[in-house]
Amino acid sequence: MENSPFSLVGKNILVTGASSGIGRACAVESAKLGAKILASGRDEERLAETLSQVSTEGSTAVSADLLEFDFCKKISSAVPADEPLDGIVFSAGMNRLLPVGFIGEKEFAAAMRVNAEAPLMLVQTLLREKKIKRGASIVFISSISGGNVVSPGAAVYSATKAAADALMKTMALELAAKQIRVNAICPGAVETKMNALAAISEAQKAEAGKRYPLKRFGKPEEIAYAAVYLLSDAAAWTTGTRIVIDGGFTLL
Ligand SMILES: NC(=O)c1ccc[n+]([C@@H]2O[C@H](COP(=O)([O-])OP(=O)(O)OC[C@H]3O[C@@H](n4cnc5c(N)ncnc54)[C@H](OP(=O)(O)O)[C@@H]3O)[C@@H](O)[C@H]2O)c1
Repeated sequence: MENSPFSLVGKNILVTGASSGIGRACAVESAKLGAKILASGRDEERLAETLSQVSTEGSTAVSADLLEFDFCKKISSAVPADEPLDGIVFSAGMNRLLPVGFIGEKEFAAAMRVNAEAPLMLVQTLLREKKIKRGASIVFISSISGGNVVSPGAAVYSATKAAADALMKTMALELAAKQIRVNAICPGAVETKMNALAAISEAQKAEAGKRYPLKRFGKPEEIAYAAVYLLSDAAAWTTGTRIVIDGGFTLL
C-alpha cells in the first residue's frame, strides 16, 4: 500500500465533524489507507465510537464546539508541534431549513460560522502556529446546494456553502505558494443524521431515491473515497476544484 499514490501512510489528518456521518466515514476510510487521525466534533461518546473504528495507532480525538470562542485554540493544541498536519477535512456542518421570511440574524450567523467561518479561522490559526505542512491537502465537504441547485427553505444553507466554495477557491490560489492544495467535495443527499433520511422507512427512501438518475441516495463512504483521493499524493496537481458526487442529480 505504501507505494500506491493513494496511500495515506505517514500522514496526519484532522477531520472535523468526525463524530457522525460523512466526517466519520472520512476518518475511518482515511485510516484504512494508513492515515493517523485527529477526530474532532462535539459529542465525546460518538467521537469515541469513531476512534473505535479507526485502525491506525496514535489516532486521537478532540472535542470542540465551533460556535464557542475557543475552538481554534482547543483544536490547534491537539495537533502536536512535531507532527504538523498533512491534511484537513472540514466536514462539520449545520443545515437548518427556514423560509426566507423567517431567517433571523442568529440562525444566519451560526450556520455561516460552522459551515464557512470556522474552517477559515482554523486554517489561519494552524498556519500561524506552523501546524500545517508544506504540501498539505485541505478538503471542504461543501454541497451541490452551494452552486449547483437551490431549494425552498435552504437559503441559509446554500449561502454558507457558496461562501465555503469561494473561500476554498481563494485559499487554493493563496496557499499554492506553499504547495498546499484546497478542494471541495459537493455531495447530493447522503444518508446521514443531517437530512433525516434515517427517519423515513426503507420503502419511502427507495421511492424518494428514484429522483436520482442512479436511483438512490448516497452513502457516507462514497463521499469519503473522494476525500481519500484529495488527501493523497494521487491528487498532487488538483487544487481549487469542486468535485460533485450526487448520483447524477444535477444533470437533470
Ligand atoms: N448528508 C447530506 O445529505 C449532505 C449533503 C451535502 C453536504 N453535506 C455536508 O456534509 C457535512 C457532514 O454532514 P453529515 O451529513 O455527515 O451530517 P451529520 O451526520 O449530522 O454530521 C454533522 C457533523 O457536524 C458536527 N457539527 C455540527 N455543528 C457543530 C458545531 N457547532 N461544532 C462542532 N461540530 C459541529 C457534528 O458534531 P456532533 O454530532 O458531535 O455535534 C457532526 O459531527 C456537512 O458539512 C454537510 O453540510 C451533507
